[in-house]
Parts: sequence; C-alpha cells; structure tokens
Amino acid sequence: MIIPKQVDTQTSDYGSEPKRVRCRQITQVRALTDQITEVDMALEIFWFLPTSGDSRYLGRSDYARPASNGYLKQIATTAEYLGYDGLLIPTGSGNLDPFITAASLAGVTSKIKLLVALRTTAAGNPTVFARQTATLDDALNGRLILNVVPGAWQEELEGEGVYLDHDQRYELADEFITLWRRLLTGEKITHNGKYFNIKEGQNLFAPVQKPHPPLYFGGSSDAAHNLAAKHIDAYLSWGEPPHLVAEKIKDVKARAKKLGREIRIGIRLQVIVRETEAEARAAAEALISHLDDDLINAAQDILRASDSVGQKRITDLHKGDKNKLEISPNLWAGIGLVRGGAGTALVGDPKTIVARLNEYAELGADTFVLSGYPHLEEAVRFAELVFPLLDGKKPFTAPDQVITGGAFDVRLQKQGHVGKN
Ligand SMILES: Cc1cc2nc3c(=O)[nH]c(=O)nc-3n(C[C@H](O)[C@H](O)[C@H](O)COP(=O)(O)O)c2cc1C
Repeated sequence: MIIPKQVDTQTSDYGSEPKRVRCRQITQVRALTDQITEVDMALEIFWFLPTSGDSRYLGRSDYARPASNGYLKQIATTAEYLGYDGLLIPTGSGNLDPFITAASLAGVTSKIKLLVALRTTAAGNPTVFARQTATLDDALNGRLILNVVPGAWQEELEGEGVYLDHDQRYELADEFITLWRRLLTGEKITHNGKYFNIKEGQNLFAPVQKPHPPLYFGGSSDAAHNLAAKHIDAYLSWGEPPHLVAEKIKDVKARAKKLGREIRIGIRLQVIVRETEAEARAAAEALISHLDDDLINAAQDILRASDSVGQKRITDLHKGDKNKLEISPNLWAGIGLVRGGAGTALVGDPKTIVARLNEYAELGADTFVLSGYPHLEEAVRFAELVFPLLDGKKPFTAPDQVITGGAFDVRLQKQGHVGKN
C-alpha cells in the first residue's frame, strides 16, 4: 500500500546513527523517479539457498563450493541471525531436494520462513503431498511457504519421467493444487481427473497454518497468470525492469480480482551491494570476469531451449550481449548470461539499492527474494549495508556499542572515542 506523502528533504546520513528514518528512502526515490511516495509497510526480505552450489566467480569451479547440507545450514542460520524473513529453496535436477533440505533446517532454525519449491509434476499424489505438507509445517512450527513450480525445461522434465508440454503442466498444477487444498481441510476425496485418480483419499493431519501454508508462484505465460489468479497468495516476478513488471502485476491482479481474489506481489532479484557504486560495479564485473564467449553461447543455447515465457523475457533483456548488460538503471543482466531464472541483479551503493527496491514496492511488491554470490558473504553484506535503511529491519550493525578487538577497544570506548562516528 503506498501513501503519497510530503517529503522531508533532509539529507540522510545512515552511517552516523543506528535509528532508521523512513524519509531516507523517500528522498532517494524522489531523486531517481521524481515521485513522492512512501511505502506504508515493512518489506519482507527473503534470501536464497544455493542448493546447486555456490561460487565467488561464475564459471570458475576452483572457487566454487559444493551444495552440501552443512554449507546450506550455515547460510540458513546466518540469514536467520541477520534478520531475513525467509529463504527460498529452489528445485531442479541440478538441485539438492528442496523438501529434504527444508526438513533438515527445522532443528537449526526457529524464526525464518522457508519458501520451498513444489514441483507439481514431481510431487506425486496430492493426498501424499498434503500429508507431507502438514508434517513439514508442523516440524517448522508454521514457517512453511510453498513456491509452486510447474517446470520450465521439457528435456529436464523428461529425465524425471514427465512427458507433458507447457500448458499440460499448468493443467496438472491446477488439478494438483485444487485437490491439495481440499485435502488439507480434512475433506475425504474421490476424484477421477485428467491427471489424478483418488479413491476416498484423506489427509488426517492438519497443518499449523490454516487452511494451508501460503502458496507463492512465478510465471509469465497466459497459463501462469490464470494459475496465479486462481490459487496463489503471492505472485513472484523475476527482476525485469519496473515498467515490464508493472504490466504483469496489472494483469495478474486484474485476473485475480475477476475471481474475487487479491494477490500479493514479490520480486526475485540478485543483488550486488557495496559501500560505493564504483565498488559495486567492479564487483559485478569481477563476478563474470571468467566467462568466455564459448561458455556464454553454450549457456544461452540451453536457456533458449526452455519453453518458459518468463525465461524468454529474461533472456531477451540482454540477448547474450556482454556489452548491453545494464538493462535499466542499476539493473544488470550479467548473471543471466549463464544462469537460468533470476538472471538480473541490482548493483549499487546501499541508498541506490533501497531506492530501486522502492520502485518495485511502489508497484505493489511487499516481498523481495534476493541472492548474491557467494551467498553466505553477500547475505551478510546486504544485511550490514541495507537493513539499516529498511523500515522494519533490525540494523545488523551496532555503531554505538563496543567494537570487538580486545581491551584496547574497550578503553577507547570508555574515553568516548568509539560509538560516535
Ligand atoms: C521466483 C521464481 C522462482 C522459480 N523457481 C523455480 C525453481 O526452483 N525450479 C524451476 O524449475 N522453475 C522455477 N521457476 C520457473 C516457474 O516455476 C515456471 O514454471 C516456469 O518459468 C514456466 O513459466 P512461464 O509461465 O513463464 O512459461 C521459478 C520462477 C520464478 C518467477
């Protein structure tokens, strides 16, 4: 919800005091967009679990980290400590299983929500999956969210035994979710459908969240927007330039409204934030500095083979051209040269990043699902630099408190040398 408001033009200086002031964001938004608005709600900031592995440089395995459960637990516990609201756990044949990964985090986290990818073609029968949902929501004490994934690559899906085209996969997702929702209310179901046959199926375990954990989802095709309108609580868009995201939001919300439903909006973006814009741009260049043309062309061929409309929209933003990567101010498509899905990053200093996030918030987004390389370090960096500027986020830094480093620092503090900046 956005409330027009008189801007306080006082310049911001976030480094000098820990308390956040909302007008810092507004001032910057006005400078960049000429709009005077205030976002009247705290944004939810999710981070991402790299269940297919992590790296400092794209395309360099010698700096890479395997997708091990131990490493993912480090990211999850760090993200929770830092104050992120949630974690997206993706799915794919190159990813560790999202459900088992989520279950493994139940005992080591207590607050952070887990947005777990549900590939509806791979989840088996809705009765069984309703039981799994209730079990995991119980284990997480009501922190489960599902990210519905109908699937984007036919070839990949065939490797998992799924021989359905794009729109059939959406039909299956619709039938699956419709049954799953009924089952989670305890209804006994007999159903002879196109994709599922169930005789007197029933789920005996109620989830903690009623009537069921929230459903998130992203897709840009006609079928995707219909699915979102009918079933989805929060529609997620990859980080396209704001004016393109705006068109999708308008369409999805209109379709939902026709069905008497409201739908929330989230944006999935990479981030590269540094203290200065120059450092951030240098970090972006460094991230792709080991990519050669052969690797980029091979990756682009694979990405173009996807039947996902959303993937095509992302690939079309840069068309594999290394020289045209800033597709909109501070929105950089370098990661999409070789990565499917979330291929665009916000690159900039903290205030610029907040202003750019606010541009999406003004369009109606209340959730951001972010990531950056390597995911452990970038989670810390983002929280350290950006959380102090975000309403509703606990500042991770404590400039007015003891700085670690031993008794020497404590003596300095007693003399009043630290904590004043
Ligand atoms: C935020 C977001 C996250 C997604 N996560 C996954 C994922 O983990 N695995 C996957 O195979 N597809 C993922 N997708 C792809 C979509 O689920 C969608 O099925 C696919 O892109 C087809 O979309 P289309 O309707 O644009 O053609 C994701 C899409 C978005 C927007």
